[in-house]
Amino acid sequence: MFHGISFPGHLHTQDSLQRALEFEFQDTDILIVTYPKSGTTWVQQIVTLILSKGDPNLSQTVPNWARAPWLEQYYFSAILETSSRTPRIITSHLNHQLLGPALQGSKAKIIYVSRNPKDVVVSFYHFHKIANFLPEAGSFAEFLNQFLKGTLHFGSWFDHVKGWTSQTATMNNLLHVTYEEISLDLHGAIKRLSTFLQCPLVEDEVNNCVEHCSFSNMKDNKMVNYTLIADDIVDHRKGSFMRKGKIGDWKNMFTEEQSQYLESVLKSKMQDCMLEFVWDVQ
Ligand code: A3P
Repeated sequence: MFHGISFPGHLHTQDSLQRALEFEFQDTDILIVTYPKSGTTWVQQIVTLILSKGDPNLSQTVPNWARAPWLEQYYFSAILETSSRTPRIITSHLNHQLLGPALQGSKAKIIYVSRNPKDVVVSFYHFHKIANFLPEAGSFAEFLNQFLKGTLHFGSWFDHVKGWTSQTATMNNLLHVTYEEISLDLHGAIKRLSTFLQCPLVEDEVNNCVEHCSFSNMKDNKMVNYTLIADDIVDHRKGSFMRKGKIGDWKNMFTEEQSQYLESVLKSKMQDCMLEFVWDVQ
């Protein structure tokens, strides 16, 4: 537990979490922030490819956690010390309440990625079933209740999304993109992100990025599909990290009642938040 939020113990320590809050960002840093299962790995891949101008070499030879390490995980400083790449790509699942102070006054470019909460909770549920470092998932109904109460690892999805997206009005170094936007128009999302990162790409370079961050390509790329992780940590026989990669899979899991319940909680917790969610593709 850290500031009332639980984090998986095999990757986080009190010390690594505390160090994250005190981290000194450089203005050239690129920070990708997400609540888990919102498209973190996808955006790590997209940003890597944009900075490489569509050349897939780095994204096919260095694991995502080494080229875009998580700020709050224990191995972060060791990776940073050994890598000389600039700009540095840093990833975080911390909420704005925790990480905001470290970013004050920084010009680091922050990409906040969100995904509709029904697909997030379904993806997270399946991930709990294969990840041995996470608690038992239990039934989907129980899991959903914990998600809505904010008691799962990484805390409340509502606080996370509200906290970060409410900063977009005042922080011009923060770009909010959604999983759904990327999914519906990957080409357009890559162009938008490359503009934000001030790394303009010609059409061929955008097309190369598109090719190497498609779901099918990433599913077969060991550097992003987590198959390098040992079976006792992620049980690959039970399912894959690159599971479905779709908008609207929640419909295969939610009952009508659960769907309505989530929407009522969403309405009450996100009252002052103007976000609209894409729940499905037509
Ligand atoms: P599903 O479990 O719904 O398939 P994160 O990286 O934040 O943990 O998110 C993982 C989710 O993003 C998984 O969702 C995974 O399949 C999806 N994802 C990763 N790469 C993707 C891609 N190239 N296209 C679509 N979805 C992708």
